[in-house]
Amino acid sequence: MTTPEESAAAAAAAAGSEPSLVVAGEYSFIVVSNRLPVDRVIDAEGNASWAGSPGGLVTALEPVMRKNEGAWIGWGGQPDLEFEPFDSDGIRVIPVPLSADEIENYYEGFSNDTLWPLYHDVIAPPSFHREWWESYVEVNQRFARAAAEAAAEGAIVWVQDYQLQLVPKMLRELRPDLTIGFFNHIPFPPYGIYSQLPWRAQIVEGLLGADVIGFQRVADASNFQRAVRRLKGYVTKGTQVEVPLVDQTPGVRVFGPIKRQGNFRTVIARAFPISIDSASFEELARSASVQERAQQIREELGNPKTVMLGVDRLDYTKGIGHRLKAYGELLAEGKLSAEDVTLVQVANPSRERVQAYMELRDEIELTVGRINGDYGTIAHSPISYQHHGFPRDEMVALYLAADVMLVTALRDGMNLVAKEYVACRFDDDGVLVLSEFAGASDELKRALLINPHDIEGLKEVILQAIGMPKRDRRARMRSLRKRVLEHDVSRWSNEFLQVLGSYAHHGSAGHELR
Ligand code: G6P
Repeated sequence: MTTPEESAAAAAAAAGSEPSLVVAGEYSFIVVSNRLPVDRVIDAEGNASWAGSPGGLVTALEPVMRKNEGAWIGWGGQPDLEFEPFDSDGIRVIPVPLSADEIENYYEGFSNDTLWPLYHDVIAPPSFHREWWESYVEVNQRFARAAAEAAAEGAIVWVQDYQLQLVPKMLRELRPDLTIGFFNHIPFPPYGIYSQLPWRAQIVEGLLGADVIGFQRVADASNFQRAVRRLKGYVTKGTQVEVPLVDQTPGVRVFGPIKRQGNFRTVIARAFPISIDSASFEELARSASVQERAQQIREELGNPKTVMLGVDRLDYTKGIGHRLKAYGELLAEGKLSAEDVTLVQVANPSRERVQAYMELRDEIELTVGRINGDYGTIAHSPISYQHHGFPRDEMVALYLAADVMLVTALRDGMNLVAKEYVACRFDDDGVLVLSEFAGASDELKRALLINPHDIEGLKEVILQAIGMPKRDRRARMRSLRKRVLEHDVSRWSNEFLQVLGSYAHHGSAGHELR
């Protein structure tokens, strides 16, 4: 049997270029994401530990990881964490360190103050700084190298999200034998917006290093394909992009497990809408303690007729201000009163050192204070504002306690909160108000769909949601639940990995996932 270095060397020799010598590792399925599923947390006394409640992605991928010698590569959430790989709940964790400067330039800067606003319809103005870009390239290179060193011959590597868009190409350069997938969790913008990015061609090239590129919506995949046509002139056919082999960077002309057709390799770029671990949300919602807690929450709020709920990271893409404006006007016009209605707004602190997020927090908290001051009574505040996260069982109790769920995002890749609400409502009750600018609206068609920019329209729909007869609520929620329970996160990852796996079969050493 040839070693990966030998096969890379032979392949590279055939293509007339020098191989990159990276000794293969032992993992045959690798997930690479900016954040690890566990966070390094430091308590008030300075004691450090690894913590984290597993999100949907982890839950979906855990079984695949266990069956396939899997590993997860990512950052532990604190500066300068130099850690050897370790096991956490059966997952091999390989931490990648980021320095304080890199957190500032790669994470807060390029990822969250350039790409994030640009990819979300420039709701906030993106900043373009060359030092940030340089740091993004360097950190992407580090993640690619970590993956190249951990991956067994012919392994499958799945790279996640916008922080790591250069990794697919960098990884292919280091390890042509790998099968590489990429999933973009956030929107991919229309070309007119995307084209503002000074490094637009490099990012597209970075992504095209993957065999399969997944997006949330069909529209995102089309936007990406258009960018490929405009910037690279490559042909796209349906979900396929034809990447000419001759146009590869020197040293990357050799490919292992890829579909070759004549002078190009095909890359799939299509929608795979992500979901949640629906059954586990429903199970939690059915537990007696959570149902009791839901009841208790309503009592603690003073038993209003209607509880409305918003749950968001405190991010300008979420349209929290639009939601508050609509609600404030309904109170001002006397169409709602603080005795009858309470809005619980959970605003999870996020990216707190980025200027746009600091400004947003001030703006939202000023508005909340004004509404509570203007329309509250001694006994009733119109808004119960929570600037922190909650454990999952408390979140589920809140979902059960909420008659109306408000998802008013101005732009959102998917919005899993909408799906979580639906999954929890085993009682077939509750009304989901959902922005058409959230990816979830492609699937959750029987929600009350709104345009959050249309404040009058939003106000009408809020009143409609509050007054909706039980029969209608039930019919809508049943249809929403069918979708969310059938299309859960395991189905999402299985579909993606199945398409990706069809590439692996083409290589001699291609690994097949179990
Ligand atoms: C979005 C992104 C994720 C990111 C999350 C939290 O959902 O798609 O990649 O991890 O926000 O943001 P943070 O910057 O705290 O990782």
